[in-house]
Amino acid sequence: MAILGVESVIFGVDDLDRCAVFWQDFGLTPVRHAPDEHVFEVQTGAKIVVRRRGDPRLPTAYSHKVGAHETVWGVDTQESLNALVAGLRADREVTEDADGIFHFQADCGMPLGLKLWTPRKIVSQPDPVNAPGNIQRLNLHRKWRQRAIPKTINHVVFFVKDYVGTFEFFRDRLNFRLTDHTRGVGAFARADGAWEHHNIFFVSCELPVAPDEPGFMHMAFGLEDIDELMLGVNLMEKKGWKNESPNTMGGLSRHRISSAIYYYFDSPAGGEAEYHVDTDYLDDNWIPRSWDFKFGSLMWATRVPTMWQGDVPMDVTLDPEGKSLDAYRLKPKISAQTKEKV
Ligand SMILES: [Fe+2]
Repeated sequence: MAILGVESVIFGVDDLDRCAVFWQDFGLTPVRHAPDEHVFEVQTGAKIVVRRRGDPRLPTAYSHKVGAHETVWGVDTQESLNALVAGLRADREVTEDADGIFHFQADCGMPLGLKLWTPRKIVSQPDPVNAPGNIQRLNLHRKWRQRAIPKTINHVVFFVKDYVGTFEFFRDRLNFRLTDHTRGVGAFARADGAWEHHNIFFVSCELPVAPDEPGFMHMAFGLEDIDELMLGVNLMEKKGWKNESPNTMGGLSRHRISSAIYYYFDSPAGGEAEYHVDTDYLDDNWIPRSWDFKFGSLMWATRVPTMWQGDVPMDVTLDPEGKSLDAYRLKPKISAQTKEKV
């Protein structure tokens, strides 16, 4: 039984046509243009579906926001799909639509879908990397490209009120694995049939920079190598798309957690769209780690990250059973009135 990754992300937006231009400029392949829907895909066949907010086909949980309203997870076999759906139906409503998507909500209210999916196989061929004393390309320049073409939907990121409880739902009901924990910030999780460091990252709404309400933050698209990423950035900037969101500005960077090189663009479909390269790939031999945010976050190519200004101790430990999550389980808030009674 395995979930292979994100099969599609369904957006609710205000400006359908501007979103279509954005995703096309970003490098996605158009699959369908209709007056009420645009569909794009990456090379695996995973899709972005863009509809207007208020479209009756969209779930209502995030209907007041522009952004991803539902994430559909691709399942490898009919048998796996049947087993997952049967498990979910034990305590919640699961509805099937005409496209074969089984819709339901996580315990936190996050709208999700499951669908039988066979992704197209892709074979990347990144250029060998030269280093002093380690010549991998002799008399051979690196690949030249005309455009950046996203290969995969690597991960989605959502703000949630209780990142521990939400991760546990994905672990217990959908067989996701914990891959890393940034204490007080969020949990990274990988689908059981996927290799990416994380397919979803649950970020706490308790963070000072986070919104009070749950919702979409960003999603990442896998590219072949840093050259393809930089070409994509050049082309997007030439077309006027910006990277100004306070959560993601900073330009070209590499995460310490996941090792990925990345660059975000603010998306008219809500949140940000991330070009993502050279991530860690994991299997069940991976041991999750517990990280301090300042030590684990990122390295900017253009300047010293704010959180690194000053001494940042190396604060990361192996956490095979995810025990560090326990201290961050969201306690029910006690109102001032109740406190007085107590
Ligand atoms: Fe990301």
